[in-house]
Amino acid sequence: MARAPGRIEFIGNHTDYNGGTVLGASIDRSVWVAVAPRDDGQWRFGSEGKAGLVTVASATTFSRQGGGGSWINYPLGVIAAFTKTGLRAPAGFDFLAMSDLPSGAGLSSSAALELASALAFLSLSAQEVPRETLVRLCRQAENEFVGVPCGILDQGVSGFGRKDHLVFIDCRAPRFDTVPLPTAARFWVFNTHTKHALVDGFYATRHRECMEAAALLGVPLLADVTTAALEAAQAKLPPVVFRRAKHVVDEIARVEATVIALRAGDLAAAGRLLTASHRSSRLLFENSTPELDFLVDQLSAAPQVHGARLSGGGFGGAVMALTTPEFGAAQAADVAAAYTQKFRSRPEVLRMQTGDGAALQ
Ligand code: GLA
Repeated sequence: MARAPGRIEFIGNHTDYNGGTVLGASIDRSVWVAVAPRDDGQWRFGSEGKAGLVTVASATTFSRQGGGGSWINYPLGVIAAFTKTGLRAPAGFDFLAMSDLPSGAGLSSSAALELASALAFLSLSAQEVPRETLVRLCRQAENEFVGVPCGILDQGVSGFGRKDHLVFIDCRAPRFDTVPLPTAARFWVFNTHTKHALVDGFYATRHRECMEAAALLGVPLLADVTTAALEAAQAKLPPVVFRRAKHVVDEIARVEATVIALRAGDLAAAGRLLTASHRSSRLLFENSTPELDFLVDQLSAAPQVHGARLSGGGFGGAVMALTTPEFGAAQAADVAAAYTQKFRSRPEVLRMQTGDGAALQ
């Protein structure tokens, strides 16, 4: 059995696939995958939350699943990545996924499923890889098999997470590190349960706009541009493309400033950077929604909140808040009540703690 945690994107919004830096926290909610060998060569997938089993005859070349079985594209994508990188696919198995990580909340349940599957498959087939390779394989599963052009953030944080720390990723290499979290830091997540119908398309569009900006600026990736150079080249870019680039370039600078603030134990300064990140998402990257904006406004008005921002891709999903220990269930309930009054739906409120990264159990 293997376990892999979900993650909070702490700061570094859409910086990963632009070669920038990002900070994330692995959380105390996870996906577990249990596997047992079968001698008939079949791969049988079950999930605690889903009725029925999905069976794949492993001897045949497998392909992306549609409909109700599409959740197995994550473990199947991992196996596809194994074979592309010279690892053996596991022989027959029964597979069971369990989770206490809400899906669709922007907490990366899909990356957690990939990491837990990969560790379980490696163990079942008596193979080992370095952690960097594990994380890269899982990103490859998502990019090439599932078909989402995500960066390394979700898989990297789930793989390199450490309790009471944030994971720092320099995404170009990529290089992974941890930054201690001041003990007074607390996290809350407010999941709106909203997801824009076109969210995958929007993500791909933002990805394309960023690559277009880099090409027009004559650099491989936006991480190669400084704020000053971007401002000087503004006339070269269509206004929308400039706004996307400015968000990414400023956000990379905010990640660096956040690391400095955290190392100095200055949670208030870190919080201001989080709220600035959200403002940039709202105005420049345009990946926020009225629901997310409302939560950020409500939260940042509370004296116990250092800062709040949308966490993850955007276009729905969740807001995270960095708070003092004095922010408790009563304060969270006030924010949720104000949200319910305005949007006639109840947000899911999750008090989060950091937790360790993916591991065999
Ligand atoms: C999603 C992706 C990540 C990252 C974030 C935005 O979570 O999976 O790779 O791009 O969006 O920062």
